[in-house]
Amino acid sequence: MGFFIFLYLSFLLFLFHPTSSRQPLCHDSERSALLRFKESFSINKFASGDTSAYSKTALWNLEEDGDCCSWDGVECNEDTGYVIELDLGSSCLYGSINSTNTLFNLVHLHWLSLADNNFNHSKIPSEIKNLSNLSHLNLSWSVFSGQIPSEILELSKLESLDLSRYSWFDRNNELELQQPGLESLVQKLTNLRVLDLGGVNISSSLPHVLTDLSSLNFLSLANCQLKGIILSSFGNLKNLVHLDLSTNNLWGELPPSI
Ligand SMILES: *[C@@H]1O[C@H](CO)[C@@H](O)[C@H](O)[C@H]1NC(C)=O
Ligand SMILES: *[C@@H]1O[C@H](CO)[C@@H](O)[C@H](O)[C@H]1NC(C)=O
Ligand SMILES: *[C@@H]1O[C@H](CO)[C@@H](O)[C@H](O)[C@H]1NC(C)=O
Ligand SMILES: *[C@@H]1O[C@H](CO)[C@@H](O)[C@H](O)[C@H]1NC(C)=O
Ligand SMILES: *[C@@H]1O[C@H](CO)[C@@H](O)[C@H](O)[C@H]1NC(C)=O
Ligand SMILES: *[C@@H]1O[C@H](CO)[C@@H](O)[C@H](O)[C@H]1NC(C)=O
Repeated sequence: MGFFIFLYLSFLLFLFHPTSSRQPLCHDSERSALLRFKESFSINKFASGDTSAYSKTALWNLEEDGDCCSWDGVECNEDTGYVIELDLGSSCLYGSINSTNTLFNLVHLHWLSLADNNFNHSKIPSEIKNLSNLSHLNLSWSVFSGQIPSEILELSKLESLDLSRYSWFDRNNELELQQPGLESLVQKLTNLRVLDLGGVNISSSLPHVLTDLSSLNFLSLANCQLKGIILSSFGNLKNLVHLDLSTNNLWGELPPSI
């Protein structure tokens, strides 16, 4: 009998224990920013190339409690409730994005992936600079075009930047990194560990400052219209694990020290 009373009390405790109140609900302003972001795109299964792609945003506003921190692809800081991660890779998002998009209200983001969607040849909006705490940005396979805005250089906390492979249905990249160019980018973003610009039209020689990025462990500059000589200073990149310079007009040899 005592055992069953114990079980019953445990069950009551389980029901009423306020575990869920420990994490604050998401902030109203961020919830509405996410919903307006969602509404600015249509869902199109052809917008993503990955066979396991599905619309992560489809169920966003159907959640009863409106806690955006529990939505698919959204992570919040446990203490502040602010959205710090948004992973909407392969989410079948289709449509244009511009500088008024409420994505740029989510200023607490550390981690953002919009990879493998179709942003309809939009330019990367200069408001990206609002996301100044970003350490990880992935816009690969997502049909952005034009010059990469100089404001990306203001994201000084970036450790991982992937702007590669414009689209899965078209090999002609429309992204350019010319003014500013690769030299300015690597001068400013000195915390980079991962840099993938595969397919971005850079049209320059390899800047010497590139090999000052001592934290780099992944570098791809494949198919970037690079020309000129391969730097003998590549051996300085002691942490490099992956290097791809294929499909360029480069000549010379990698130094034995690599
Ligand atoms: C920006 O995009 C929104 C739709 O997301 C559109 O209503 C608005 O007109 C666009 N603004 C400009 C300046 O293109
Ligand atoms: C895609 O971009 C074109 C040209 O800017 C525009 O006319 C069209 O409405 C856009 N489509 C979507 C779904 O945003
Ligand atoms: C970007 O930040 C500026 C200044 O902090 C702010 O005025 C602007 O509204 C923000 N843009 C967006 C789209 O949130
Ligand atoms: C950016 O990150 C720093 C350190 O993690 C934090 O102190 C600051 O409040 C963050 N800023 C925003 C806007 O989240
Ligand atoms: C960016 O996203 C694509 C598609 O999901 C993925 O293949 C790639 O590894 C990601 N890049 C980084 C640096 O994580
Ligand atoms: C790359 O950019 C250069 C300089 O703007 C231009 O001349 C060239 O046609 C572009 N290449 C491709 C493949 O778009």
